[in-house]
Amino acid sequence: MADITEPASEMTADLETMVSLAKRRGFVFQSAEIYGGFAAAYDYGPLGVEMRRNIRDLWWRNTVQERDDVVGIEAAIITNPDVWRASGHLDTFTDPLVECLECQTRHRADQLEDNTCPNCGARDRFTEEREFNLMLSTHVGPVVDESTRAYLRPETAQGMFVNFENVQTTTRKRLPFGIAQIGKSFRNEITTKQFIFRTREFEQMELEFFCRPEDSFEWHDYWKRERLRWYLGLGVRPQHLRLRDHTAEELSHYSKATADIEIHYPWGWGELEGIAHRGDYDLKQHSEHSGKRLTYFDTETNEHIVPHVVEPAVGVDRIMLTLMMDAYREETLDNGETRVLLKLAPAVAPVTVAVLPLSRNDKLQPTARAIWDRLRPHFRSQYDDAQSIGRRYRRQDEIGTPLCVTVDFETLEDEAVTIRERDSMEQIRVPIEGVVEALQERIDALRPDVPSREDVVIESSS
Ligand code: GAP
Repeated sequence: MADITEPASEMTADLETMVSLAKRRGFVFQSAEIYGGFAAAYDYGPLGVEMRRNIRDLWWRNTVQERDDVVGIEAAIITNPDVWRASGHLDTFTDPLVECLECQTRHRADQLEDNTCPNCGARDRFTEEREFNLMLSTHVGPVVDESTRAYLRPETAQGMFVNFENVQTTTRKRLPFGIAQIGKSFRNEITTKQFIFRTREFEQMELEFFCRPEDSFEWHDYWKRERLRWYLGLGVRPQHLRLRDHTAEELSHYSKATADIEIHYPWGWGELEGIAHRGDYDLKQHSEHSGKRLTYFDTETNEHIVPHVVEPAVGVDRIMLTLMMDAYREETLDNGETRVLLKLAPAVAPVTVAVLPLSRNDKLQPTARAIWDRLRPHFRSQYDDAQSIGRRYRRQDEIGTPLCVTVDFETLEDEAVTIRERDSMEQIRVPIEGVVEALQERIDALRPDVPSREDVVIESSS
């Protein structure tokens, strides 16, 4: 496989560059910007929405639709508080918080460097550490008091555990099988300085894969490989990717083993996705608190067993930032100009094909529009005739459009168009009649290679 053990090279885009491109091109805006924004909240613009949709669709197809052992659900965001009591979130979902005695800003104690305030630089000037619960709460119904307090879910995972029995009995799935969900989660994060890497409202894609206890570590290894393959298939550069096992001290209260898929961000290695072995913790907790039996009847042994769970969990927003940063390139052209491009895989790029008439000329318009009509049912496409063709190529490069179709005056004579490739800038001429097939061929050729399962070497967690 592409070697994920080779030394990491830094991303070529720093966070500032990314924030600026994301805004300039309509991927991500600061939320409520006209009112001065709102801490750690972002709105997604037209291109961001398309890209997020692609990420979600690719995950869902890979995790649910292409498998026969995973089904999906969508659970409520505002959940019965008993769920969070049972899961341990009300007691233990905390971060250590300190306040700077000089500038009164609050920080996560475990993220301070040299015990120095990242805001004012004061050293060793903090309050005592206290545990700060990250759950965001609201009130349900017309009375606002403690009795009506409810929580916005901090993870989608619990929806799968509390519906285990419903899903198992309605689908008659036999072990091993998984339940997947995509949806918003909410955390009152203390540190939120890294754009959409860590926000208070974010979207998770989680799979709870239930299996026999004796097979669970094998499944944990299986999912580590599968998830790495998925990122390589999205085109993430192998040298920016690594798998790191948690140390015993790092493990969450529910976890028997966890591996993080990490990315080499400009600020260092950071978690993209966690792949946790949750054992039987959650089903047992919910069974105990609800008084309902959450077991699986094993017809081979005629026994009720509590399945163990392997959980790959990731955020859509974090994948989007990762893909954009990883794809960012600056190239110096022969004429000395700098070309900025996002080398996004066609499957994740917000626009797959842009149709560009050479100029906004009345003679070109009908033919160019007819070609766009022809392409729209097949590709995510855009029609752009504003400004010079050079500027439009640059715009498409910067948003990661893999292919452009240019319509020029010759097109009116020879019924052919030019396909221009983003990465090589090569141009080829193809007849309009076969343009869909020609584009599809190029998209297929640009698809990143996915290594076979055997070729992904990992350390076993068993
Ligand atoms: N159910 C397990 C769970 O939620 P987690 O490591 O806390 O585990 C899983 O979260 C993933 O969700 C992370 O790896 C990250 O991709 C994403 N995520 C978590 N908190 C986030 C936040 N505040 N902003 C954006 N993404 C977040």
